[in-house]
Amino acid sequence: AVYPLIATVAAYLLGSLSFAVIVTRAMGMRDPRTYGSKNPGATNVLRSGSKVAAIVTLLLDAVKGWLPVALVAWFGKPYGMEEGTMALVGLAAFLGHLWPVFFRFEGGKGVATALGVLLGVSVWLGLAAALTWVIIAFFFRYSSLASLAAALFAPMYYLLADGAVWNADNRIAAAIVVMGLLLAWRHKENIKRLLEGKESRLGGSKVGKA
Ligand code: G3P
Repeated sequence: AVYPLIATVAAYLLGSLSFAVIVTRAMGMRDPRTYGSKNPGATNVLRSGSKVAAIVTLLLDAVKGWLPVALVAWFGKPYGMEEGTMALVGLAAFLGHLWPVFFRFEGGKGVATALGVLLGVSVWLGLAAALTWVIIAFFFRYSSLASLAAALFAPMYYLLADGAVWNADNRIAAAIVVMGLLLAWRHKENIKRLLEGKESRLGGSKVGKA
């Protein structure tokens, strides 16, 4: 089983590319780990005031989750790679984002990358999770709350649509659950701020507050 192993390591390395840091550096902007929530993620890059940098970060952090899963789904079969490997590479990319080997293992919260993984599993699953995020973000104006809601609902969507939209795979379901748990755990400071009413709102004050 050397192919799944190589694919998993490659996905972890790809996931380790912290695009919030790379994109802002390339654009000559401040390092997002120095302001706002200090998180290297699209939401915090948005606090710099640059929508372009935030969108590029979101897209690239999502692509690095999507690409390994999609590649395995498209080309894996002849190499003995199917759903089990999709689950592995998706999880590996996500873990790379949280604990990036290139950035002293200090990564982000995994929202965009998890979304990419879901899109790789199924475009519909990814869109359902993204729509959940958009609805919660629209009504409550908290990126973190929207992310937590999407992470909670994603496994339910995957299992509820089993047999109707796709045939759910246990290993992929497990990967989605694990991603959701780690994502929630990485939001513990956000959860604390939400409960205290101190979380920063989307479109609210820029750099300064967390
Ligand atoms: O992108 C992660 C988001 O859910 C929260 O980010 O910077 O507000 O902690 P942040």
